[in-house]
Amino acid sequence: MLEQLNDHERLRIEEFRAHPLLASLAGLSWEQLLAILLQRRYLSLAIVNVYEAVIDGLSDEGIKASVRLILHEEYPRNTRGVPLPSHRELLFQDLLSLGADREQILITPESPITQAVRLESLSHLAACLDHPQGQVGLITFLRFWAEVLVSVEYACLWPRLSERLGSDSTGQQPKSEFFYFHMIHDSRQSDIGEERLLGGNTHAQALARHLSQLIRTPADLEQAMHQVDQASAIKWRFYDQFL
Ligand SMILES: [Fe+2]
Repeated sequence: MLEQLNDHERLRIEEFRAHPLLASLAGLSWEQLLAILLQRRYLSLAIVNVYEAVIDGLSDEGIKASVRLILHEEYPRNTRGVPLPSHRELLFQDLLSLGADREQILITPESPITQAVRLESLSHLAACLDHPQGQVGLITFLRFWAEVLVSVEYACLWPRLSERLGSDSTGQQPKSEFFYFHMIHDSRQSDIGEERLLGGNTHAQALARHLSQLIRTPADLEQAMHQVDQASAIKWRFYDQFL
């Protein structure tokens, strides 16, 4: 049953990579690229709300603990328990390193479409609560929207971002504190059901381990495939606004 879901996910990822905007990032000016990243920041700010909504909707305490663990990674601490910059602070830092100025980041308003995408993502999670396969729905949507596609988005952006972030021959460029880390740490990495504990799991893999347990019936499978489609469609709409 998981094979069908895995095939479906791979198909949606390939389609998403071919989105007309994501496929043409190489030709964009830095001004255009920064405009996209400043809107994209609003989805990053919303990730905490998305995670909290899922936690509140989950009934299994074990799965809830696992989702909570990922959420808390957004707020790292040092070995003495002192809070370090949150992932959103690191995103702010990356945007500065890419050439945005503080004021631009802070005063650029959320576009009506970005806002609609953000609110629709939250209401979509709320709609899972009344559904018989709602638990599958919550985890599948969360995993695809907040981890799998995020990694795909940043992988598409990385060739451009790395022009200004990351190692170059001079060693003078600022390092990416946010985009590179999430591109790696959120990625799908393996098919659902193929996660290995050794070597650690990405966020997408950590959530996939729960999906392997939750998906038991054709109705579960249908729900999971539907959520993959919904998450993809919502993200498509976000990038459509820049065409
Ligand atoms: Fe993540």
